[in-house]
Amino acid sequence: MKEDCLSEETVLSSPFDQFNNWFNKAVESKIPELNAAALATSSKEGQPSVRIILIKNFSSDGFIFYTNYESRKGLELKSNPKASLLFFWFSLGRQIRIEGIVKKISLVESDLYFQSRPLDSRISAWASRQSQPIDSQELKLRKNKFENLYQNQPPRPNYWGGYCLSPCIFEFWQERSSRLHDRIVYSRKEEEIWKIFRISP
Ligand SMILES: Cc1cc2nc3c(=O)[nH]c(=O)nc-3n(C[C@H](O)[C@H](O)[C@H](O)COP(=O)(O)O)c2cc1C
Repeated sequence: MKEDCLSEETVLSSPFDQFNNWFNKAVESKIPELNAAALATSSKEGQPSVRIILIKNFSSDGFIFYTNYESRKGLELKSNPKASLLFFWFSLGRQIRIEGIVKKISLVESDLYFQSRPLDSRISAWASRQSQPIDSQELKLRKNKFENLYQNQPPRPNYWGGYCLSPCIFEFWQERSSRLHDRIVYSRKEEEIWKIFRISP
């Protein structure tokens, strides 16, 4: 079988197009939860933390995910909006690292997405004070309370919504059998054009 390889001469000039290309290949390859990515944030004191989130949309503006703005990640992003995302597609031997700045998306976009979610998930957004200590009985009580309060029409809680990570760095990593894996980086400052270069495996 021909080995996949990645070259600074043949990658697409836009990292978003290159991402799209690899994403489509992951779709074709039926990678489970291919939109799951690790999101790293850090506290004001520099303590990093990481967790899996689902990327719900991407474009040349960035990568969109939804969460509780008062969760640990939400509070960390408030004091330090620099964050990193990592996709790992084992069966393709591919990893994509992305770094950038995170901003909240518009209220309208968050409303639209919230209303597209299953009812259970919308109620859970009300029941869960994400990342806060809670006992399981209290969580059940809160779920019942919001089910009764909102029935089938829960509005979006104002502490829940989307973020967009706008990238300044992408690294595409392609596994090679030699262990001399390919690593191609795209880097830009502000709105400058992307610089493309290889780094050592
Ligand atoms: C496959 C998978 C998908 C997840 N997707 C999300 C998501 O899109 N948004 C979210 O807030 N949490 C998601 N979670 C839960 C997070 O990993 C995490 O537990 C939660 O957001 C609280 O993180 P924090 O305390 O660091 O803020 C997901 C977990 C898994 C395993």
